[in-house]
Amino acid sequence: MHRSWAEPWKIKMVEPITMTTRDERERAIHEAGFNTFLLRARDVYIDLLTDSGTSAMSDRQWSALMLGDESYAGAESFYKLVDAVRDVYGYEELIPTHQGRGAEHLLSQILIKPGDVVPGNMYFTTTRFHQEYAGGVFVDVIVDEAHDPSSDFPFKGNIDLGKLRAVVAEYGADRVPYVSFETNVNMAGGQPASMANLREVYDYCSAHGILVMLDATRALENAYFIQQREAGYGNRSIADILGEITSYSDGATVSSKKDNLVNIGGFLAVRDPEIARRARALLVAFEGLHTYGGMSGRDMEALAEGIREMTATDDHVRARVGQVEYLGRKLIDAGIPVVRPIGGHGVFLNAKEILDHLAQDHFPAQALAAAIYRDSGVRGMERGIVSAGRDPETGENRHPNLELVRLTIPRRVYTQSHMDVTAESVISVYEHRHEIDGLRFTYEPESLRFFQARFEEVAGG
Ligand code: F0G
Repeated sequence: MHRSWAEPWKIKMVEPITMTTRDERERAIHEAGFNTFLLRARDVYIDLLTDSGTSAMSDRQWSALMLGDESYAGAESFYKLVDAVRDVYGYEELIPTHQGRGAEHLLSQILIKPGDVVPGNMYFTTTRFHQEYAGGVFVDVIVDEAHDPSSDFPFKGNIDLGKLRAVVAEYGADRVPYVSFETNVNMAGGQPASMANLREVYDYCSAHGILVMLDATRALENAYFIQQREAGYGNRSIADILGEITSYSDGATVSSKKDNLVNIGGFLAVRDPEIARRARALLVAFEGLHTYGGMSGRDMEALAEGIREMTATDDHVRARVGQVEYLGRKLIDAGIPVVRPIGGHGVFLNAKEILDHLAQDHFPAQALAAAIYRDSGVRGMERGIVSAGRDPETGENRHPNLELVRLTIPRRVYTQSHMDVTAESVISVYEHRHEIDGLRFTYEPESLRFFQARFEEVAGG
């Protein structure tokens, strides 16, 4: 007999959300220039813009806030965070930052020289920005399957060793300061790397004197997929698998706004005390003193608790990814083109296929995200040509293969009924997809343009 699962928590406090009328949503999306980032949150019904900083904290985390030690230097909360990161991720040296991009900034500035090349498994927007800002060039070395939304390959986050070797052969190991290895690759659809691949990349890099720096922002979700899919890991705990993932690296940047179950915070963690020393020298200039970086004492308390909670049992991550799979399964059953397999943090709609009457230069994913908002007040995010930006050399638009709308599920926030409402809206928009017009820029920011760009509709485009 089929047995259902339920979330391993119950609700102690609720936050009302408002349902809007179609007229109100029409007005709101026009005022937002068809960019879901520019909507006011009060005009959103179910907010699937991001899983970043949107988690619900537990009662233990809320009570931990009261223990925050707000001493400028040497706060007890910092040492609790150091212990949690060492116990769960296995890194000795902790550099706390205000969020993930703060850690990316420090790492890029200390390790990348102008002209260096940084291979990585698909770009992430802020990560690549900081690599380029430090004078480096990002080179994508992810496996080809990652660029194919319909491939069912279980480890689409893997690095292609052949591509990595070719980069090292072309530029020389001394121009490759580190490999930027993201766990559960966000832009590929929340897709994991296998343990075998993590191990192989680390062995190769160690032999060539190249560091491996993880973006371990969603390493917990990656650990879950390894447990479910990789031979030999089915009986290992999530905590144990996560520890093995990070053992194949020299350090990591983490945005704690995801796996770590807090609303703000992040860190750079490394093994080498000399790299940590250099990072701390910049930390005090760009973030704050080395024992708080970019966080208050209470933020560090809640974060230390969140890091321990996420691995305390396997139930949390199972329910978290299970809810994403629940939404994905509903859409697959309705015949909606989505990235497969369903990822760890969201369901990614294949806008290129859904809106195949639109040219990519008319921003199908941006238009689809706006259409879903108009239909139901569900807010998703464009992850396609707008996010990919322009090539800094040529100034031309990059044309990524993946033109996606991400419906990202916050952790411990929504119920399965919210997933049902979301699925019904996406299905209804899909049925009327031929009525959706393309878009063009009315304002295009110079960098990270997706955050603040504005658009207008191109009739018939
Ligand atoms: N790395 C990854 C893989 C991310 O997904 C993010 C943020 C960052 C780094 C940067 O961290 O936001 O704390 O500065 N991703 C958010 C998202 C913004 O919606 O996917 P941050």
